[in-house]
Amino acid sequence: MTSTMRDAVYRMYLDFLETAEHKRHWSIFNDIPWDKLDGSKTTESVGHCVELFCTEELYVPDYSSAGLDLSRSVFGMAWFQTRWAFEESRHGLVFREYLTRSGLRSPAELEALDAGTFSRRWKLPFQTTRQMACYGALQESATYTAYNRQRNLARVADDQVLEAIFFLVGRDEAAHAGFYRAMVQLDLAENRAATIADLAYVLSNFKMPGEGLIPDYTQRLHSSGAGISPRLFLERVVRPLLNTLEISREEIKLALKHAAADAPLSNPAADPWQPVEGHPLPADSSTPVIGRR
Ligand SMILES: [Fe+2]
Ligand SMILES: [Fe+2]
Repeated sequence: MTSTMRDAVYRMYLDFLETAEHKRHWSIFNDIPWDKLDGSKTTESVGHCVELFCTEELYVPDYSSAGLDLSRSVFGMAWFQTRWAFEESRHGLVFREYLTRSGLRSPAELEALDAGTFSRRWKLPFQTTRQMACYGALQESATYTAYNRQRNLARVADDQVLEAIFFLVGRDEAAHAGFYRAMVQLDLAENRAATIADLAYVLSNFKMPGEGLIPDYTQRLHSSGAGISPRLFLERVVRPLLNTLEISREEIKLALKHAAADAPLSNPAADPWQPVEGHPLPADSSTPVIGRR
């Protein structure tokens, strides 16, 4: 990474931190109306949904240790990772507090949840900072979309506690998506073709962190209503990202074509716009795909 880019990342992080401290700070203890917890609204289906989000947020030790290891040589990125880890830890904690304070989960059930969670380890899905920036831009935006959907459902149900939680957590996720998006913009300015190739590769291999990690993840996303559909992922996550980055769908398809020509057997899910079994992007499927962070 050039010194100019390192300097740009550092300044980006300072901006991120200043906004986080001045405009986005919130407290689990002071900013959630816990006194408004209403037993008639804390249904078991809500419990399943929040438990799934909670489980995926609880992998912060793995997310942050792997992320720090990858980014440690770039000051702005490494320090972003530390602040990010703090905010993600707050997400897992607020969901956890909701489950216990509402009585939806007992201390023993949460102990079992912790034990199950930490018996498995999350691993980096991609191996370079540029690919992980592409992944972060997609994944954080997908998570914001899922939480924003839950916030709207909570508002309709007049559940003030969950509405506040999903608003505050979702706002963090949107800010994380913004940082990663800005990182990708820097990468594009430095090497447009290579960055588009990476984004295409990440898109065609995208999956949420819980997939393959949390037991029955996809089925639980579906049954709890925690996920978002592939169509929503395409419309609210992929297309807005490509528009902001000023990358056309044709450029992504061309990058995938080149990758397939270079290594025909290494990239089986080549076109993210084509329905592929088990893949998150087929536009007409109603299978939920995401649920976290
Ligand atoms: Fe996040
Ligand atoms: Fe999160």
